[in-house]
Amino acid sequence: MAKILVTGGCGYIGSHTIVDLIENGFTVISVDDNSRSTPYPVSGIEQITGRRIKNYNVDLKNFDETRAVFQENPDIAGVIHFAAYKAVGESVIEPLMYYENNLFGLINLLKCVQEFSVPYFVFSSSCTVYGNPDDIPVTESSPVKKAESPYGATKQMGEEILSNFSARANTKSILLRYFNPVGAHPTCFIGEQPVGKPQNLVPVITQTAIGKLQKVTVFGNDYPTRDGSCVRDYIHVCDIAHAHTLALQYLMDQRNKTNCDIFNLGTGNGVTVLEAIQAFEKVSGVKLNYEIGPRRAGDVVAIYANNDLARKELGWEIKYDLSDMMRTAWAWEKKIKAAEEKVKSN
Ligand code: WQD
Repeated sequence: MAKILVTGGCGYIGSHTIVDLIENGFTVISVDDNSRSTPYPVSGIEQITGRRIKNYNVDLKNFDETRAVFQENPDIAGVIHFAAYKAVGESVIEPLMYYENNLFGLINLLKCVQEFSVPYFVFSSSCTVYGNPDDIPVTESSPVKKAESPYGATKQMGEEILSNFSARANTKSILLRYFNPVGAHPTCFIGEQPVGKPQNLVPVITQTAIGKLQKVTVFGNDYPTRDGSCVRDYIHVCDIAHAHTLALQYLMDQRNKTNCDIFNLGTGNGVTVLEAIQAFEKVSGVKLNYEIGPRRAGDVVAIYANNDLARKELGWEIKYDLSDMMRTAWAWEKKIKAAEEKVKSN
């Protein structure tokens, strides 16, 4: 069974991808310094798959420690790279921390990929590289526009680094541009674990519904959209996860068209913030306390994916709809609350 190194394996998308990789016959190791995650998902992965994976608690900015992982695992057949800071707002306040962490980490990792001749590399990119698109839905050929934040800039630079690296090295890469990953694994053994107050819409919704947050503030309802609130392409984290397995298989089958193919990972459906709130209320039966507030700086008005390429070339099929996304996100939030209450009662 081919061994895959997943960086950020204790994170939200990383942990769900590890489950999918194991279910599709891969052996997996993780590298995660737990600076933005907890080791908990390792046990969640084991509860789902019956397999205990090893996580190396290593900061990718430490080249020697990163290299030692490759030295100990000379049979790594592929790398999937998730480990990066991803909070848009934080990146505006701490740009150097984002450039250092996201880019130094990537470069150290690629130095090891080159030294140990790892043939396949999958990069976690984001629809944020499109900025505010002129035309929607966006295709992979839509223009990459000036990043709205340092976070977005690190994704754009990461794509450039990989494009140049893959042209020279013997490593074939794939860039996966996620739209808005939401939801949790149907078993509820793993899910999104925001560190501190959540920034993203769906965890804000579920934490408001469970009573951790007082209300949801809708950041603007005066946009030129069907109900005035921003449009996004929400996609279930398990659909995103399976696309990574398919991307690896695509590379291993030598089906790649270039040394650095790009795929959009979105459902192709645009959903407004107010529609997302209504979908949650319908699925949960909880009336959400929300109010309309001012626009959030850096927000894109509307974006959603043309996902034809991923469906055609990777054989990717969307399995979860918006109700499933809200249902699993809500079930996960209730699971977290029950676990917290159990700890309190002990
Ligand atoms: C979605 C919509 C907000 C919170 C970012 C990154 C992207 C990816 C996902 C990493 C927007 C509105 C939100 C709230 C609100 N990151 N909103 N009230 O900004 O689309 O994408 O996170 O993979 O790369 O750019 O996601 O969930 O923050 O916002 O009204 O309390 O919800 O204005 O329209 P975003 P988000």
